[in-house]
Amino acid sequence: MQNLSWWKHAVVYQIYPRSFQDSNDDGIGDLNGIRYRLDYLVELGIDAIWISPIYPSPMADFGYDVADYCGIDPIFGTMDDFDQLQQEVHRRGLRLILDFVPNHTSDQHPWFMESRSSRDNSKRDWYVWRDKPNNWQSHFGGSAWQFDEPTGQYYLHEFLKEQPDLNWRNPAVKSAMFDALRFWLRKGVDGFRVDVMWLMIKDDQFRDNPPNPAYTFGQGSRAQFLPLYDADRPEIHELVAEMRDVLEEFGDRVLIGEIYLPISRLMNYYGRQLRGADLPFNFQLLQCAWTADELARTINEYLSAIPTGAWPNWVLGNHDKSRIASRIGLRKSRAAALLLLSLPGTLTIYNGEELGMQDVHIAPDEVQDPAEKRQPGIGMGRDPERTPMPWEDSPLCGFTGGTPWLPIGKSNQTVNVHASRKDPDSMLSLYERLLRLRHREPALVSGALTEMDATDGLLMFIRSDGNTIFRFVMNLSEERRPVEVGKGTILACTNIQRDGEPVRGFLELDPAEALIMNLAK
Ligand code: GLC
Repeated sequence: MQNLSWWKHAVVYQIYPRSFQDSNDDGIGDLNGIRYRLDYLVELGIDAIWISPIYPSPMADFGYDVADYCGIDPIFGTMDDFDQLQQEVHRRGLRLILDFVPNHTSDQHPWFMESRSSRDNSKRDWYVWRDKPNNWQSHFGGSAWQFDEPTGQYYLHEFLKEQPDLNWRNPAVKSAMFDALRFWLRKGVDGFRVDVMWLMIKDDQFRDNPPNPAYTFGQGSRAQFLPLYDADRPEIHELVAEMRDVLEEFGDRVLIGEIYLPISRLMNYYGRQLRGADLPFNFQLLQCAWTADELARTINEYLSAIPTGAWPNWVLGNHDKSRIASRIGLRKSRAAALLLLSLPGTLTIYNGEELGMQDVHIAPDEVQDPAEKRQPGIGMGRDPERTPMPWEDSPLCGFTGGTPWLPIGKSNQTVNVHASRKDPDSMLSLYERLLRLRHREPALVSGALTEMDATDGLLMFIRSDGNTIFRFVMNLSEERRPVEVGKGTILACTNIQRDGEPVRGFLELDPAEALIMNLAK
């Protein structure tokens, strides 16, 4: 693995900073809190952390509404705190990835305040102003256009009206935003996760989106139309290539794109001649049904679509999607951990998944997420998966001494880090074992994935780099299943009792059991 870029053999750990660790008892996590917990991450065995936005922000969308691209919000700390965190991250041999939010700013960003102040100012064209709205809908529901009384025009906001979209067709915007990237790159950050990369450029003729024939009532207003003209426009790829050039000025940094598109379109984000994103986030495991057939089909489809020379990646959870343990159940989510750690390429784990954290029920008067507030009850709310990390056995779980900004949740208290560490059978112990195995065995990172098979609810495949051969098996049926697997030794299993068990050609797996074994040559 020596000659692979660091990010190719990395397991990335996403930190949602509000919920990781509070250091000043205001109920909200912060940078010093993250620094305080770095040794936990080293012990866990991850390689890089990606921190969701920490820039100054009115927090209308919890940091995804940026008011200054080159600062730190006081809620999270100071620039000195950031510098110290970065230093400590690097001292431990970890990498630091920041979130970059280019599609929109906050309405409190000085650029937008100037832009909306008159029709005739140097920042007017930094945003998207029109005399008439078209039918584009916000991702959070309702029209994506907001009428602005003082100047009598509408501005575009693909998310909240407090998040006006930047006009990336304007070279001045590009240059200001690229300078913001350089600011952090110069400081030493190792890369960026780019927010809603596929939305950054819109149709220059502002054509209406066509109706979605598959729309059913209750899906949210955006689902009424097919996003033909306000997403995934052809010009985006040139822009991503330019963004990549900026990163390349600084050497081996990583460019990750948040992109929710079908596989065939996702692949375009690697760019022509691979001059696009290093890792267009692969959300297939977040979206597909958790059956052997569906997983086999999805994994094959994704891997065979990857352009030559491009690098695969897998995401099991993030701050926008229901947690895996709640989506597929606790037992199967252990098998999901095994699957994730057995797949080729770069992996991303969302904070708390390694504990088996579940979604927390949020009472209507506790709702924080603007997506839920705008369209209540249609399942868009993201608070349940954003609740604080439980660190120890106490009512506030060592997360804060104040009032946590979201409830910690009874079920998550029991999987706290302290208790999980003592239990060899916990999800945390399983993740630690799997991460150690992955770091020991380069074939798991970069070897080929072959012989995919899904029969009777069993998912199987082989991972091999020519030197070592591994077999992955997972039972997603509801019954105990016998299976022919060849000779070897079980290296890791959802059932820890089986670690190290010799296999002589034949195995039986319980429902939701998964394992990885080496095969004798
Ligand atoms: C991305 C973020 C999400 C945010 C949205 C708008 O999808 O992951 O949390 O609300 O962009 O910035």
